[in-house]
Amino acid sequence: MTLPLSSPQVNRHAYRGDLLDFTATPRWGQLDSPGVRFQPDSWLLVGDGLIVGTQSEEPDSSWDKHDHSGRLILPGFVDTHVHCPQLEVIASYGTELLDWLTRYTFPVEAAYADPSVARLGASRFLDALLAHGTTSAMVFATVHKGSAEALFEAAARRGMRLITGKVLMDRHAPPELCDDVMQAERDCIDLIERWHGQGRLAYAVSPRFAPTSSQAQLAMAGALCRADQTLYMQTHVAENRDEIRWVAELFPNARSYLDVYAREGLLHPRAVLAHGIWLDAQDRQVLARSGTQLAFCPSSNLFLGSGLFDWPAAIDAGIAVSVASDVGGGTSLSIQRNLLDGYKVQALSGHRLSAWVALHAATRGAAEALGLGAEIGSFDTGCMADFCIWDWACGPVAQARMQVARELHERVFAWMALSDERNLVASHVAGQILYQRDSA
Ligand code: GUN
Ligand code: ZN
Repeated sequence: MTLPLSSPQVNRHAYRGDLLDFTATPRWGQLDSPGVRFQPDSWLLVGDGLIVGTQSEEPDSSWDKHDHSGRLILPGFVDTHVHCPQLEVIASYGTELLDWLTRYTFPVEAAYADPSVARLGASRFLDALLAHGTTSAMVFATVHKGSAEALFEAAARRGMRLITGKVLMDRHAPPELCDDVMQAERDCIDLIERWHGQGRLAYAVSPRFAPTSSQAQLAMAGALCRADQTLYMQTHVAENRDEIRWVAELFPNARSYLDVYAREGLLHPRAVLAHGIWLDAQDRQVLARSGTQLAFCPSSNLFLGSGLFDWPAAIDAGIAVSVASDVGGGTSLSIQRNLLDGYKVQALSGHRLSAWVALHAATRGAAEALGLGAEIGSFDTGCMADFCIWDWACGPVAQARMQVARELHERVFAWMALSDERNLVASHVAGQILYQRDSA
């Protein structure tokens, strides 16, 4: 029998497990944080693709029940900086940023001139995100208009929250990867009209980084942002020391690398800058005043030997920080692996990253920084039902560790440090299962 759509049974699903999300920003170093909302052995209620509530009592028989007791249920992760075409160059040996771009990255990005490559790449990429527990992302496409289109189409088919845009790059790259100011502007405007604000999709003006855009192109990007303040902006800043020297040569009038973007009006509350390792106190003030956020990419920073991001300095300055994989500079789409790398980066600078600050930055914190806190990142009533179900432990080492973990932070930290995509049981987007492990 087909039930009419209005029947409660069609769309009411209840998921039992240990629910973990955040109600507020945890303080750095605080292990007993009031912002942590842990509801052991509870039910996550989902109706019509939205979170309807959470409760400890078993819901009545009008709910379709899914028993994952003994498992962890988290909001889907938000990866705020990742490159779709770079899955193919993940784990490429031996170079730092500028050589890595030329040797590995630009060749795979050039292949996206072919729309069928772009379409296949976009689908494979989004499915890979989902298979790692990431349900929303801010993504770099390539310079080709078709690559952004392919990502928007693939995300729309899956109902995912996705922010992307065509890369802007009019110099210092192979000719087949360069656009020009006029064509790039036309492409951006077309893409914005077609996709920005459609369902769960949003457009990000995406200059790759200062060295590959002329000043005229950066000015055009800034003008787009000023004309529509609902647009996002994404780029890279202060990642690598050779890169910084190059930017100083290319933009001799700028006070700093960041100042190149500030002068063109690219810093605003919807701007996400990846890395920000080599910033000074004045740069941090500029970021904080403009509401610009930083995406900390620890796996990439370690792999490319870029440097150690100073998270506490960003917090002290009042800058929002999220955590991102930056694949293919980063070596894993797994947010847990990136958070563990983040812990190690902070430890090298004498700081300790708690599981709370880390997981908050990958869920509610990232969502709020993107202005999407009412939609993703938590189990607040009315949010979209984007959530993932995880095993607490896979394999004998993690199982043994979990057995002796005493308080909550110890347990969740061990989970964060020892888990990865193998722990993922299922990913739900707007209440639909989009990934399920074979042995779930
Ligand atoms: N800076 C400019 N482009 C890139 C990129 O693709 N990856 C990283 N990590 N840094 C960049
Ligand atoms: Zn990047």
